[in-house]
Amino acid sequence: MDHPLAMDVEAMRRAGYAAVDALAARMADPEAEPVLRRATPAEMRERLGGAPPEQGAGLDAVLARVIEDVLPYQAGTNHPGYFAFIPYFTTWPAALAELIAAAINVSPWAWMESPAATQIELEVIDWFRGWLGMPESTAGLLVSGGSAANLTALLVAREAAGGPSEDSVVYVSDQGHSSLARTARAMGLRPHQIRVLPTDDRWRLQPETVIAAVGADRRAGRVPIALCASAGSTSTGAVDPLPGLADLCAAEGLWLHVDAAYGGFAALTPEGRALLTGIERADSVTVDPHKWLFQPLECGGVLVRDGERLARTFAIHPDYLDSTETHTTGEANLGEWGLQLSRGTHALKVWMSVQAFGLAAFRAAIDRNMELAAYAEELVHGHDTLTLMAPASLGIVCFRREWPGCDEAETERRGIALADALERSGDAFVSTTRLAGRHAIRLCILNPTSGAAHVRRVIEHFAQAPAPPDLPRTIAVPADSKAGVLGSPRSAQGTDVLETMPLLAGLPDSVVQAVRDRGSCVNVAAGEEIIRRWDADRSFYITLSGRYDVLIDDRVIRTLGPGEHFGELAARDWGGGYGYARTATVRCTQDGQVLRLSSDDFQWLVGTQPAVRAELAEILADRLRQR
Ligand SMILES: Cc1ncc(COP(=O)(O)O)c(C=O)c1O
Repeated sequence: MDHPLAMDVEAMRRAGYAAVDALAARMADPEAEPVLRRATPAEMRERLGGAPPEQGAGLDAVLARVIEDVLPYQAGTNHPGYFAFIPYFTTWPAALAELIAAAINVSPWAWMESPAATQIELEVIDWFRGWLGMPESTAGLLVSGGSAANLTALLVAREAAGGPSEDSVVYVSDQGHSSLARTARAMGLRPHQIRVLPTDDRWRLQPETVIAAVGADRRAGRVPIALCASAGSTSTGAVDPLPGLADLCAAEGLWLHVDAAYGGFAALTPEGRALLTGIERADSVTVDPHKWLFQPLECGGVLVRDGERLARTFAIHPDYLDSTETHTTGEANLGEWGLQLSRGTHALKVWMSVQAFGLAAFRAAIDRNMELAAYAEELVHGHDTLTLMAPASLGIVCFRREWPGCDEAETERRGIALADALERSGDAFVSTTRLAGRHAIRLCILNPTSGAAHVRRVIEHFAQAPAPPDLPRTIAVPADSKAGVLGSPRSAQGTDVLETMPLLAGLPDSVVQAVRDRGSCVNVAAGEEIIRRWDADRSFYITLSGRYDVLIDDRVIRTLGPGEHFGELAARDWGGGYGYARTATVRCTQDGQVLRLSSDDFQWLVGTQPAVRAELAEILADRLRQR
């Protein structure tokens, strides 16, 4: 065939075999390359930059460049030492499915064009439904990933609640994934419409916390519409108590969305299914086959219990698509069920890899990951130098090295330095997180290639490595100080307390002055409430004078005097400009003044002053315990 983009069939085959050979070799020996190879933009520009050629170099030459200049610079997510973020292991049948899908543009958007691919997607969604135990009324769609699935689900939830409204409120836990913050932003939800709620000491959202927040919102005239629970939170793998949350959502008329992007496929194993009990009662669920179902990026999934709502939320039928009209029951135009009209197949790879390996192989891989996580926890317990920060849950364990005499900032610096050293060895790669503001090493065991020796190597590295060399401590001095809302309180009476208060002790005068400049002084009279429990306002307060009670349900849990502070939980950024709901009420008992900092100014202080961040980490952990 002759056209400008035609290729000789022999040349097609030759390039195809060369690509397959290079990839099969890499997949067969995932440890042959370091787990991660970093490069600078200059190096990458040197290798890959340049204007597009007017005349092509031929596919063989281009392929050779890709093998030389691209593949080595892709993290080895199949490497057995890859324990960072979420390890994305991929199977060969799934990779071939991607090639097939791309070669002939398999695109299940309209039944008439892709009946087979559409049927495969319906089948795959039905498998997921069965694994999670959801009813037959459930419908779903494969999308690009967990972020797209969360957005799709919450759009359906909002339609079910009657559409957009300034009064509606959605609840998430402080362990909820950042994609929920992005979803909220994309949906135009304002900060007062997202209630970020604290979790318990095992990072789970308890029903009573939600009940209290919902009650306060209803009393304030707001309209609670949905709760996002986690079935495998990203930092710790924690699963919220789904049966209790499902009960409360049923009683309160809230839509229950379960983000099981990370943990959902644990349902394939008896242990995982038990952990996920209650997920079958969700109104919608996010799953992510490109995580624990070992599929290549991109592949996410959303399931909606009342399946008709999915199509109803997105269906828009322009005249120019009249010819795609369906004729018999079972024909589905999946391009009308979600945000994307034109869409590639994500289901073919899931279907091909499950058909090729069988479910038993997937079960065994997931089981092994969970066993290794339990093993890692055991190893952590066996080392005095390590502290367990979150127990093994769905393949994740969090821990950290303790160093006698080190504060939080130094503990974090050393932990990150040890993680960097491990990555530079080329053998293993872990990431870090913060739990209630405290540093933790996060080991995510999701690769079928990982074994006990790989896990042991990581734990022993953190337990035994010598202290990383000291770094000179630098204190960033803000360049962009701006005056407070009520004008500069530099001259305000009573701000001297800033120089002596423990939180700011030891900071350069310029930083203390910047705090003064950014803040606004507020006079408060005895009896006034400055913040109220479950409110959404996010300022941070330093008490300059007077006395203040901190109350939970009329119980005084703390009394504050000059030089203390409150509001730090809500002022922290959970993501996307959203913050915690207030977890306590603060009432003035003796007239005084407070310095109010906006949440942005609080972020600035914490972000530029490691000592403040360290001090606050301890305070935050304490506040969360006392909520
Ligand atoms: C719990 C959870 N939800 C949602 C997401 C977002 O998924 P994706 O990165 O596929 O968009 C992630 C990603 O790590 C996650 O862990």
